[in-house]
Amino acid sequence: MEKIIIKLHKRSYPVVISDKLFNHFSSLWSLHAGDKVVLITNDRVAPIYLNILCNLLTHAGIVTDQLILPDGEQNKTLITLNKIFTKLLTQNYDRSTILIALGGGVIGDITGFAAATYQRGIRFIQVPTTLLAQVDASIGGKTGVNHVLGKNMIGAFHQPNAVIINLDVLSTLTVKEFSSGLAEIIKYAVALDSDFFNWLESNLENLLILNISSLMYCIRRCCELKASIVSIDEYDQGIRSSLNLGHTYGHAIESYLNYKKWSHGEAVAAGIMIATNTALRLKQLNYSAAERIKQLLIRAGLPIHGPKEMTPNNYLRYMTRDKKSISGQLNLVLPVSIGCVKTISNVNHKLVSLSIEDTYS
Ligand code: NAD
Ligand code: GLY
Repeated sequence: MEKIIIKLHKRSYPVVISDKLFNHFSSLWSLHAGDKVVLITNDRVAPIYLNILCNLLTHAGIVTDQLILPDGEQNKTLITLNKIFTKLLTQNYDRSTILIALGGGVIGDITGFAAATYQRGIRFIQVPTTLLAQVDASIGGKTGVNHVLGKNMIGAFHQPNAVIINLDVLSTLTVKEFSSGLAEIIKYAVALDSDFFNWLESNLENLLILNISSLMYCIRRCCELKASIVSIDEYDQGIRSSLNLGHTYGHAIESYLNYKKWSHGEAVAAGIMIATNTALRLKQLNYSAAERIKQLLIRAGLPIHGPKEMTPNNYLRYMTRDKKSISGQLNLVLPVSIGCVKTISNVNHKLVSLSIEDTYS
């Protein structure tokens, strides 16, 4: 078992990584006998894992209730959020209630936002069940929902009290869902850690066959990288923006497609490739580094360009509304070498359009 602490003074919390966590309960969960929890999950994850987790908590003396939401990014909405509030209010749940998010990043983000806002804030625990949520979404306290006009546009910062990562659950993901997680993993390596990038180049196939020691190393490294960033820039005012590599383009893809067909990770992968091309055109990155990024994305089974039907103008419409854009000015996180990114302000729209077109050549 591995434990990483997200250091945020009074709001510090553990990220616990193990392949046996659903077999035993421990104090690391930040729960005690008599606590009242509501498990929030979806109709895909519930039939596989809800009873296992419910039984574990009930045996530990925790009073456990549950709510099953509809699956899918297209349901990461205010309407679904309201289902959580209705459940909590109709059953008179008070401020001592603890929510547990059992699922991928969608369930984690929506449950976290419910916890941030129900009666002005209650506790919650992340039990991430996708690779993407284990390495990224469950950590750092970004919570929220989508709007038809933009991805993650309504939300709050609200840190969980613990993140409980169980590697066993990754075996029930599809190949597409597993690859989505690899997109955020490649993002960490390109943005922050060239040694980790080298490690991924040598070990990608071990991850794809779910080799436990490779997964453990990889997930721990991503959690350490996220911990180091979040503990110095919790509210995304500076260095945390490096974690958004590829996201301004990726969010445009997701919004354009109404949060259907493409997963978040796939959109981020195409976004990393467009960011790479943008950096190439701006002469901020050399060709061999760009080629290494492209090859790693391909080996991970990820797309290296966006949906064919999407024009550069379709991207720009959403990108200028991005949280990093100011008055339509594009401020983009771009790779300048493997392991290092820079935010470039006021990037020319025509250059971005050409970089999008470059992904097809
Ligand atoms: P997801 O939550 O939609 O999960 C993908 C699919 O896998 C879903 O159908 C889900 O039900 C299913 N699933 C989950 N666990 C499973 C398991 N163990 N076995 C079988 N099926 C399982 O998507 P995701 O990729 O986990 O997360 C993407 C979301 O995370 C996006 O909304 C994105 O914006 C958000 N995100 C948030 C942050 C953050 O810092 N808060 C960071 C990155 C991404
Ligand atoms: N996933 C980006 C962040 O947490 O800041």
